[in-house]
Parts: sequence; structure tokens; C-alpha cells
Amino acid sequence: MAAMGEVIDANAFAGGPFVARFEEAYARFCETKHCVGVANGTDSLWFSLLALGVGPGHEVITAPMTFMATAEAITYAGARPVFVDIDPRTFTIDVTKIEAAITPRTKAIMPVHLFGQCADLDPIMEIARRHKLVVIEDAAQAQGALYRGRKAGSIGDAGSFSFYPGKNLGAWGEAGAVTTNDPALRERLMMFREHGQKKKYYHDVVGWNGRMDGLQGAVLSVKLKYLDQANNGRRRAAARYHELLAGVAGVSLPAEADYGRHIYHVYAIRVQQRDDLLQRLGQRGISCGIHYPVPVHLQHAYANLGYKRGDFPVSESCADTFLSLPMFPELTDLQIETVARELTSLLAAPQPVGVRSA
Ligand SMILES: Cc1ncc(COP(=O)(O)O)c(C=O)c1O
Repeated sequence: MAAMGEVIDANAFAGGPFVARFEEAYARFCETKHCVGVANGTDSLWFSLLALGVGPGHEVITAPMTFMATAEAITYAGARPVFVDIDPRTFTIDVTKIEAAITPRTKAIMPVHLFGQCADLDPIMEIARRHKLVVIEDAAQAQGALYRGRKAGSIGDAGSFSFYPGKNLGAWGEAGAVTTNDPALRERLMMFREHGQKKKYYHDVVGWNGRMDGLQGAVLSVKLKYLDQANNGRRRAAARYHELLAGVAGVSLPAEADYGRHIYHVYAIRVQQRDDLLQRLGQRGISCGIHYPVPVHLQHAYANLGYKRGDFPVSESCADTFLSLPMFPELTDLQIETVARELTSLLAAPQPVGVRSA
């Protein structure tokens, strides 16, 4: 509240010093040279693509098991999303399948660090360098995740973050940011978020209004101090879920790759009859989620891309079986034990086929 009061007293609502202060702190946190604060994570993806020269006639390789925004940003840059299935262990892009999707039109790879776990970035960077492609990490769900000791968002040409309120680092409204080590890219990103201008009312390119609010900059600066603690709280909760659910028949648990540190933005198990289980857990007061029920290549909005069911079997099977259990840093042991107990008892007594709960 004190930080927000300072913004109000300074009348610094759109961009300004409170955003600049957060950018400095977040670049330090991510171990990058620069951070550019923007209005949301969709803008941060879009501006990264534009600033890296992605546009009409280009293709961008990404995973279909992601939030719609990843592909939307590619479309709004004028390019075409090209999907590659995910690895069934990490739920991130399957690096063994990327090269087969590269064409002369491919300009970028956009790995998604789904649920708070990094994609396998070393082979992705190696493929990108060999084919002269840029890499934009969609790190919207991975603030503070590690890949071989390095921070998410510090390895690709650009790292894109969302600070949507539900994220591990969440604003009190909408916000996002791009991290980079390239000063020229930083300049271009700053132009795109500010109507293409470097100097007020002199527009070098057609940009957009994509500034971060001063109030969000101030809130995020305060909350950043607690991010490691919050991520540790999520890891503790995940470890307890693992202990309680290991060996429960019919449950497949999320895995942490040996190359990184997962920050469990989402703790997604895989179960059969997921929809029924979701409903019955809800009736017992345990609200779960599905991230995501329809992979992007099968979304109605992307029917024009010509993909069909069967194209990406791992993503499709995950969409049918993912169940996100309650996950936040303050989960108590009693809450975790209650979720595990109810889930286990429902799985042990499956609903007879054709019988619906009231
Ligand atoms: C993987 C992924 N990419 C992009 C976004 C877009 O971020 P925002 O909602 O801040 O626009 C999100 C967040 O919802 C996301 O989860």
C-alpha cells in the first residue's frame, strides 16, 4: 500500500520511474542485462517477435500444448505458428522433433516453459544457431525457474514474461516484461511499447500502446522480494504431493527434469476419466483446473492452419488427462493431505459407467 501511495503522489501511472525501478530489479533477478516492462505477457511475446524481425512470410516453431497467447502473438506479428509436439516427461517442446519442422520460412523457435519447467534449451539454442533462427523463451509461467543453473528468460535472444495476477510473480492487474542481453533489442522493444517513438511525437515505426502501469511496477518491485520464498513454498507443496501420491494406481505425477529447477506454477497430474474426477473433487470442496483442455492446433480459431486430431498425440493425450491440483505457496500440509486423500479415495471407488453424480 505504501508503494502504491508513492506512485499516486508522484502521478506516475503510465510507464515512468516505478516501472524503470522494477525493470532494473527484474533484470538483476533474471541475470540479464536488460528488462523492458510492458502491459501484459501477450504484448511481451508480440513485441519480442516484432523487435526480432519476425513478420509476414515467416514461420515460428512452438508447442501446441500452451496457452493460446503464444500462438496469437505469432499470428499478430503476421507470421504462421508451426507446432511441434511435446515431450511426455517434461510437457515442453520435444527437441528431437524440431529440425523436421524447419523450412526456408522458419525465423524463430518459441519454446514454452510450461507449468514452470524450462524446455531443454541447450539443444534448442544449438539448432537455432545452426539454422540462423532466433529464440524467444515463453517464460510466462517460469519466473525464477532454472535451466542448468541459469535463469529462465536469460538464455534465448529474448525471454517473455507475464505477471498476470495468478502467475508465480503476479501483479495487481495486468503486466508483462521482456528480458534480453542485447541493447539494440532493448531499444526496439522500448519503441514498440511506446507507439514506435524514441522521442515524444516522433514515430520511427508503427508501434503500439504497450506500457506497464506505474502501479504495477511498484507492486511487482515489492513482490519480487518474496518470489524465491514463494517458489520454494510451491516446491515444498509439490514434494509433499509427490510423497502422498506416488504409487497411487491411475495417477501419473509430473516430473522434474534433471537439467533444471521446476517452480510449479501448475502441478498437473495425469488421470483417466479426468472430467468426472474434476467434478467429483469439486463436490468435495477441492477445486482443480485443466491446463489446457484443447491444444492450440485443435482450437476453432486455428482451423485455418489445417491441423487435425492425431497430429500431436502427446499434446492431445495430455489435454484429455491433465488435472491441475490446487497449488500456491501457502498450501498447508493439512490441505495437501486432504486433496491427496480425497483424490485417492475417488480413484479407488470409481463411478459406475453411466451413473452421474447429482
Ligand atoms: C504460456 C503463456 N504465454 C503467454 C501468456 C500471456 O500472458 P498474459 O496473460 O499476461 O497476456 C500466458 C499467460 O496467461 C501464458 O501462460
